[in-house]
Amino acid sequence: MTTDTLTITTQQVQESRISQLDYNNIEFGKIFSDHMLVADYKNDAWQAPQILPYGNMSLSPATSAIHYGQAIFEGMKAYRSADGDILLFRPYDNYKRLNVSAERMCIPQLPEDIFMQGLEQLLRLDAAWVPPTEGSALYIRPFMFATDDFIGVRPSSNYRFTIFSCPVGAYYNAPLRVAIETNYVRSADGGAGYAKAAGNYGAALYPARQMQQKGYHQLIWTDAKEHKYIEESGTMNVMFVIDGVLVTPAVSSTILSGITRDSVLTLARDLGYKVEERRVSVEEVVEAHRAGKLQEAFGTGTAATIAQIATIHYNGEDLELPPFEGRDISNSVAAELDKIKTGQAPDPYNWVYKI
Ligand code: COI
Repeated sequence: MTTDTLTITTQQVQESRISQLDYNNIEFGKIFSDHMLVADYKNDAWQAPQILPYGNMSLSPATSAIHYGQAIFEGMKAYRSADGDILLFRPYDNYKRLNVSAERMCIPQLPEDIFMQGLEQLLRLDAAWVPPTEGSALYIRPFMFATDDFIGVRPSSNYRFTIFSCPVGAYYNAPLRVAIETNYVRSADGGAGYAKAAGNYGAALYPARQMQQKGYHQLIWTDAKEHKYIEESGTMNVMFVIDGVLVTPAVSSTILSGITRDSVLTLARDLGYKVEERRVSVEEVVEAHRAGKLQEAFGTGTAATIAQIATIHYNGEDLELPPFEGRDISNSVAAELDKIKTGQAPDPYNWVYKI
């Protein structure tokens, strides 16, 4: 942890846009808070960050991130406690993962003080944007991208790190219908699947759209070699309860190491549930459903939180899963996680960072 205070020049908005926000009707990702943090990397060094009014950026048409995809991002949330405090959930883990992604994409490592102090000062300024309503939060989007205006393919020499935020409600508003994908691939061994790289999401859009046109919200990806093992879903890691055991694919070079995923597994163990992180075959899930032993299926992610899956499509068939109310493991873990995030339960792992 850094102790020196970073100087961050701040240009405040003339007039806040917060009056446009209806706390009781927040659409995910559509309205942005007043300010953003911007730090540039040039001449082999990170320059002093600035806080600016949220707004457009001027970029060269040759900006290399646009052409070759050197772009990575993170997602995290801040919650308002009953006392009015602003509580960030596991920001250091996002910081660490950002740099893991940066390494894979040949982007320079970001110093901790730019991330943490930048985040803290930005949130202090935009504190009013953290919604007080239950089920809502301030979604925070840190990202870094290559800014060289150069057309050759090589790692850029210049980069921009930015953080902006938006108040959000639920990411998924309907019981999730997901389809197991056995043709297209999200990531193969040796690829960049474990990195939160923009291109991973872009490449997933076409296959996802094929199934969305058939009435499914998301895909569940399978391994690139055999399409036999479950990997992750579009915006989430995936978990199943099979015969009372919480089972999830172990993280690997092809699977994003989700922070919500880790939080859920940790709390499930603490609550006394049996947890297995291992390879999970499609066949195991389908067979468990046939035998009446597939009790729960859900996704975990910062945006998605814990998103219950109602239907799994596989091989031309819709597997309908048990009702959400009886899903003891995911419901109890979700309740505990919510309490920790909003300061209503002890925080034994120091996940909560008070602003
Ligand atoms: C998140 O859960 O924060 C994500 O980054 C997923 C998505 C919204 C792209």
